[in-house]
Amino acid sequence: MQQRLSLSRAARLVGVARGVLQQKIQMGQLRSFDGMVSVDDLMQLFPTARLERDIGFERVAKIQDESFGKRMRQHLLPSQEILSQRLFEQSRELGDLRAHLQRYHTLVVRLRERLNEYELGTREVAAAAAAKDMGAFLDAELEAVLGESAAPNPLEVMDDMLRVMSAHVVVHPSRHEFFVDGADTVLDAALRSGLAVNYGCSNGNCGLCKARVVSGQVQKVRHHDYVLSEAEKQQGYTLLCSNTAVGDLVIEALESLQPSDIPAQQIVGRVKAVQSLGDELMLLHLQTPRTNRLRFLAGQNLTLTSGAASAQLPIASCPCDDRNLQFHVLRNAEDGFAHKVFDSLKVGDAITLFGPWGDFVLRPDSPRSILFIAFDTGFAPIKSLLEHAMALELSEKLYLYWLATPPYGHYLANLCRSWTDALDNFTYVPIAAEHGDASELVRSVSADHADLNGFDIYVAGPDAFVNSATMSLLEQGFPRNQLSAAIV
Ligand code: FES
Repeated sequence: MQQRLSLSRAARLVGVARGVLQQKIQMGQLRSFDGMVSVDDLMQLFPTARLERDIGFERVAKIQDESFGKRMRQHLLPSQEILSQRLFEQSRELGDLRAHLQRYHTLVVRLRERLNEYELGTREVAAAAAAKDMGAFLDAELEAVLGESAAPNPLEVMDDMLRVMSAHVVVHPSRHEFFVDGADTVLDAALRSGLAVNYGCSNGNCGLCKARVVSGQVQKVRHHDYVLSEAEKQQGYTLLCSNTAVGDLVIEALESLQPSDIPAQQIVGRVKAVQSLGDELMLLHLQTPRTNRLRFLAGQNLTLTSGAASAQLPIASCPCDDRNLQFHVLRNAEDGFAHKVFDSLKVGDAITLFGPWGDFVLRPDSPRSILFIAFDTGFAPIKSLLEHAMALELSEKLYLYWLATPPYGHYLANLCRSWTDALDNFTYVPIAAEHGDASELVRSVSADHADLNGFDIYVAGPDAFVNSATMSLLEQGFPRNQLSAAIV
């Protein structure tokens, strides 16, 4: 029987986004068996996937290095204990297979003996001839099968290796999937994959990350003070923030799919860096305490307060890196918070964070490609959405049109170019303009894409730009329910 793989595992093996495989299934280019695909079909569709290229790891490492920074690659290897448990599981699987094969072999040998006995024992000439024929057929087929030395499908070999390096997790009821790599807990891995699973302290105290293990095995890797009741333990409940996956897992867990699922939180974060992005723009990098992280969806805003100064700003980073929050702050003499960021804020200073706010978020599980349109610092929430879409491997294609005026310019153009290098499904179109003309931009977007209706479109920028861009799109007949806008 052909080996079958989940879409996430298949995508990882051939080094494409899961959305690419979904698209191929929709277009009838790849067969799906209850959400699984066969290794042979995959190999036919991606014949260049070869073991020696080790595409999965290469791609993951490249994206992590170039898009999210090298710190994300720390602890890439599982602990020795987890590795040995996974190897033990694979050895047990191999042992079961061997025993199974042995039983088949015994059956075939007995069948051959019975045919011999029948041929010699029967008085009917025709029956004896038929038994002889059958015996000869069996001998020939056996010889052919045993003599075959076909190379194993490289994807099957890679998949076995991946099973040792990482565990695959399916979340019910959403059927979202992710991998637990290295020494991550199940919670760390879920967040890094862009899933908004329920959690609170991430430190074993609150019990909010409680989830039920439907199948598979977890192992405690971090101490927790929260005590699960005997009944909960019997039902398979575990704390995602304190356990890692020994092997493949199916869990039942709560997820936040829309802004209303996330409560307002107040957290004191610290300034990790204040970095110039040009004369008029500053990158403010904050970090939340390890034991008090902020839950938010990509594209949302936060209220930041330092002393008497306060501002509501879009988060410019991905929830998949939840402790690290970035903001793009414009110079503005009349804005007390911006003034502080430019003139006095230093590493280690405390900032109170309150939120998150806003519904400029990705549509959960939309099958459409995504087109982002940013004007100047409208890039901040768009960057958050883009990084989240990349982490979720959401879409077949991602496009970014960024219209920038002096003095800001495309202040993170290198980052956009690194995404272009790392991802086959991302296209970056920088447009320089003295005066941002939204309708002209929409015209050029339409010229590049014959049918915009296959996209979800996200627009962010100043009031006038966003209104003009959304108006132009709607006048062209673009569906309103596929359009999201944020004023920045
Ligand atoms: S998040 Fe609080 S116990 Fe896991």
